[in-house]
Amino acid sequence: MYRKIERNAPCWCGSGKKYKACHQAFDEKIIRFERMGHIVPDRKLIKTPQDIEGIKRSAVINIAVLDEVGDKIRAGMSTQEIDDIVMSVTQKMGGIPADLGYEGFPKSVCTSINNEVCHGIPSEKIILKDGDIINVDCSTILNGYFSDSSRMFCIGNVDPEWKKLVDVTKECVEIGFKNVKPWTFLGDMGNAVHEHALAHGYSIVREIGGHGCGNAFHEDPFVSYVSKPGTEMLMVPGMVFTIEPMVNMGTDRITVDEENGWTIYTADGKPSAQWEIEVLVTETGAEILSY
Ligand code: MF3
Ligand code: CO
Repeated sequence: MYRKIERNAPCWCGSGKKYKACHQAFDEKIIRFERMGHIVPDRKLIKTPQDIEGIKRSAVINIAVLDEVGDKIRAGMSTQEIDDIVMSVTQKMGGIPADLGYEGFPKSVCTSINNEVCHGIPSEKIILKDGDIINVDCSTILNGYFSDSSRMFCIGNVDPEWKKLVDVTKECVEIGFKNVKPWTFLGDMGNAVHEHALAHGYSIVREIGGHGCGNAFHEDPFVSYVSKPGTEMLMVPGMVFTIEPMVNMGTDRITVDEENGWTIYTADGKPSAQWEIEVLVTETGAEILSY
């Protein structure tokens, strides 16, 4: 995987510097972890400064779209109207909604209400009502760079137990973020997220998780929140991935909508919440790119 490069040859990262003055020590450090039996990132998962700049520009649109949804969302609105906002704001700012047509997904955003875990499909027939909790998951492409984040919105008067699920899920993501540190493992982060959910009696979906993101919508690694410390991929500076736990009030078991093939539900019909951020691993810690 880590093909040896001659010390005075140009570095693989495109900086134009000699390898020995650029990424050689970095590569050697990764190789040491690999020899210890750890999963390490391939070079193609390490973003260049130019990639990071592109992802950040894409994220400006991603954040603006969710801000606009947050301003407009209310009881009586259809989820199709949310889709319309996502499309119009994204296009006005020069981007493309990444969801539209992705593996045949028919709309520009995912809108998942109450017992829907993720991948809810916007529709004129689905009307938001008082007491609903909804996840709006928005993904944006700008100049080939991808950003991906989601937020929960509480519609009107939400049951305090449901509101707590929404708040604790947000805390889970923030705790995950605090545990993104270079030269530690994704399993350290995932376990911290899991512990927080478990402490409140919640469960986290196992089958669906976060992902590398930036030069494509879904890149390696798969980001689990039911992983153990010291396991999963080593985090190194330049990696970009999402933290997006799906936290369930009841069972972690899920079912798939048999008609549309997309929407995921909790198996027990209890509510589920999700927040998603996209993060960059830095030399000293991490940076949030979209929220
Ligand atoms: N935005 C989702 C994620 O966070 C993926 C949605 S794919 C779609 O990874 F096709 F359902 F839109
Ligand atoms: Co995502």
